[in-house]
Amino acid sequence: EETKTWKKLINIAVSGAAGMISNHLLFKLASGEVFGLDQPIALKLLGSERSFQALEGVAMELEDSLFPLLREVSISIDPYEVFQDVEWALLIGAKPRGPGMERAGLLDINGQIFAEQGKALNAVASRNVKVIVVGNPCNTNALICLKNAPNIPAKNFHALTRLDENRAKCQLALKAGVFYDKVSNMTIWGNHSTTQVPDFLNARINGFPVKEVITDHKWLEEEFTEKVQKRGGVLIKKWGRSSAASTSVSIVDAIRSLITPTPKGDWFSSGVYTTGNPYGIAEDIVFSMPCRSKGDGDYEFVKDVIFDDYLLKRITKVSYLLIY
Ligand code: LMR
Repeated sequence: EETKTWKKLINIAVSGAAGMISNHLLFKLASGEVFGLDQPIALKLLGSERSFQALEGVAMELEDSLFPLLREVSISIDPYEVFQDVEWALLIGAKPRGPGMERAGLLDINGQIFAEQGKALNAVASRNVKVIVVGNPCNTNALICLKNAPNIPAKNFHALTRLDENRAKCQLALKAGVFYDKVSNMTIWGNHSTTQVPDFLNARINGFPVKEVITDHKWLEEEFTEKVQKRGGVLIKKWGRSSAASTSVSIVDAIRSLITPTPKGDWFSSGVYTTGNPYGIAEDIVFSMPCRSKGDGDYEFVKDVIFDDYLLKRITKVSYLLIY
């Protein structure tokens, strides 16, 4: 009989675990589609007092699914308990915006949550924990979180802009009439907000610069950019709630990009801490930039990106004005 070798168990914390995004994400994590079919996991779920009963329900469903890789499920409302020895912290829990709001309008309420969670991570998480902040405004929340966790490397904190990257790839593919997997080298610069800059200068379709394939440059500058920037808001109007399934898919993509080597010549984007960075962006903020990974959970900035006046103006404007 075949004997299977398992990797060492890893602890994964998920906040907002009773929410809509988590309800998609947790089952992907537990199934092995994220960390691999030889990687046993413990899921440590953080909820709030208000959501505690629902959280118990989530844990019941996870248990009833008999996932062979899911070795432990625990629930708590105390971040110091939940973050103990975690190697990944997926910080989803936050108040979401409603129709007509900007994400920055959530800062007062959500900022405090991320300060507290940063302190808790600093106190009890693995020293090399990777943190992905999803709750909005995610760039600022990630910055608040890392500032409260001085004993964890700042570069381990990410603000999720992968959803924007996926949205941008989809729009370019639709316009060019190709399948989305032909679109590569897509960068979202800046913030997960309406000021973000989806980069159609460096992106490629079938290996060719997007501007050679899509010759309607006015569409790229105006319609494409705005469509990506406002996609989340439009979705809220349609659904009456914010995106959940596609967000969870993009969290999976973001994790997988850090734990698998980036394909040659390609890259992904993530909101990361700016320090000594190569693009002339303001220091000491969290800003989405093109990254590559060796697959070890870490990343480096991409060197061979090009800039033109249009791109440079927009990126520097966003980074210096700090429109969060
Ligand atoms: C999204 O982009 O769908 C989420 O950030 C939710 C939102 O507020 O737009």
